[in-house]
Amino acid sequence: MSVGKGCQRPRFFVFLCFFVVVLCVRGISNQTPGRVSKAVEQVGCGFSRGSSVYRTIDINHGARRLTVAEGQSVFEALKGEGIFLPSVCGGRGLCGRCRLRVFNGDWPITPAEQRKCTADELTEGIRLGCQLPVNADVSIEIPEELFATKQFRGTIEAISNLTHDIKHLRIRLSEPERIEFTPGQHIELAVPVYAGSPKPVSRAYSLASTPGCDRGIELMIRFVPGGIASTWVFTVLKVGDELSFNGPYGSFGLSRSDREMIWVAGGSGMSPFWSMIRHMKQIGLGRECTYFFGAVQRRDLFLLDEFRRLEDELDWFSFVPALSAPAAEDNWSGQTGLITEVLERRTIGENCEAYLCGSPGMIGAAVKVLRSHGITEDRTFYDEFE
Ligand SMILES: Cc1cc2nc3c(=O)[nH]c(=O)nc-3n(C[C@H](O)[C@H](O)[C@H](O)COP(=O)(O)OP(=O)(O)OC[C@H]3O[C@@H](n4cnc5c(N)ncnc54)[C@H](O)[C@@H]3O)c2cc1C
Ligand code: FES
Repeated sequence: MSVGKGCQRPRFFVFLCFFVVVLCVRGISNQTPGRVSKAVEQVGCGFSRGSSVYRTIDINHGARRLTVAEGQSVFEALKGEGIFLPSVCGGRGLCGRCRLRVFNGDWPITPAEQRKCTADELTEGIRLGCQLPVNADVSIEIPEELFATKQFRGTIEAISNLTHDIKHLRIRLSEPERIEFTPGQHIELAVPVYAGSPKPVSRAYSLASTPGCDRGIELMIRFVPGGIASTWVFTVLKVGDELSFNGPYGSFGLSRSDREMIWVAGGSGMSPFWSMIRHMKQIGLGRECTYFFGAVQRRDLFLLDEFRRLEDELDWFSFVPALSAPAAEDNWSGQTGLITEVLERRTIGENCEAYLCGSPGMIGAAVKVLRSHGITEDRTFYDEFE
C-alpha cells in the first residue's frame, strides 16, 4: 500500500505540473494578436499590448483581417501591413486617391473628404483612408487589385530624351526583382527630399514597358515647369541612382472584348499605349486599332519611326499623328489641328471602344467628340494625368 501511495504522489505532482503548464500556455496565447483579435471581433473593443491599443481592420468581408495599433490613419496602418492605397500626396488629404468604402462606424467627415468626395460618395460610405483614424474596429472595402501592390526598389539604368520636354527612364528592379502588371497600369514614384521639395512626395506615372519584360520598368515623364517630381527627374536623377515606387495601380487597360479600338493621346500620354501596342504584338493579339496622337510641333512628336514600323508589321494597326501648330521648318504633310478636331473629321464606327490618356482638358474634349460619334460611356476608358 505504502509503495502504492508513494507511487501516486509523483503522478499527482506530474498532473499538477501539466495543469500549470496548460494554464500558462493559454495565458500566453491570449496575448497573441490572433487570439486577441478574435476577442476584439466578438466584443468590438480594442485591447492593449504594452502601451498601445490595438484595433481590427476587416478588409473585403474577411479577405484580410489586420490587427493594428491605434494612433495612425487607416492609410498608414494598411501601408504598415504591405497594402498600399493609391496616393500622390503621401497621406496628407490632398490627392483624394486613397478612397475606400467603410461599412461601419461614425467617423466625422473631414474638410479634405468634403473637398475630394462627392455627397453621393460620402453617403455610400466612400472615404479617404488617410483621413480615417484607427480608433475603433473598422470594416472596409478596397479594390481587389490593391492586395497585389508592392513597394519596389530599383536603379536607374538609362535616361534619355524622347523630346525637348519628355524623358524616357529605364529602371532595373532590385527588390522585388520582378513586377506583374497589365498594360495601362501605373506606379507611384517616390520623390525624396531635395532642393526643390522639403518633403518627400510621390507621383503617378504610367508604365511604358511590357509585362513580358518584368525585370525592369520604363516610364515617360514630361517636364512640368515648377513641378516637384518632374524637376527632380529632369535635374537630379542620373544613371545609377536608386529609387523606390509602389504599384502597380489602376484599372485602365485593354478590355476583353474584340471590338475595334480608337486610342487618343498627347505628350507623355503615349506611355500606356507604348506598353499596350508592344504587348499586343508580343502575345499576338490583333484587334483593329487606330491610334490618334496629338502634338504641337514636329519637335513634340516621338517614336514616329517605331510606329511606322508597327503599322507595316501589323495589318490591324494604324497610327495618326497630328500637329496643332506645325512650324514652317517642320515640313509637315500629315494631319493638322487639335487631335480632337482630327477625330471629328474621321468616320468612327459607333461599335468602337475608345481609350484616352493625357490632360483632363484633352480627355474632356475628346469624350465630347466620341459621344457625337455614338461611342457610349461604357465603351470609353481613360486615364487622366491630373
Ligand atoms: C494615373 C496617372 C498617370 C500618370 N502618368 C504620367 C506619365 O506617364 N507621364 C507623365 O509625365 N505624367 C503622368 N502623370 C502626371 C504626373 O503624376 C504628375 O502629375 C506630373 O508629372 C506633375 O508632377 P510634378 O510633381 O512635376 O508637378 P506638381 O509639383 O505636382 O505640380 C506643379 C504645378 O504644375 C501643375 N501641373 C501638374 N501637372 C501638370 C500637367 N500635367 N500639366 C500642366 N500643369 C501641371 C500643378 O497644378 C501645379 O500648379 C500621371 C498622372 C496620373 C494621375
Ligand atoms: S493619400 Fe492623398 S488624399 Fe489620402
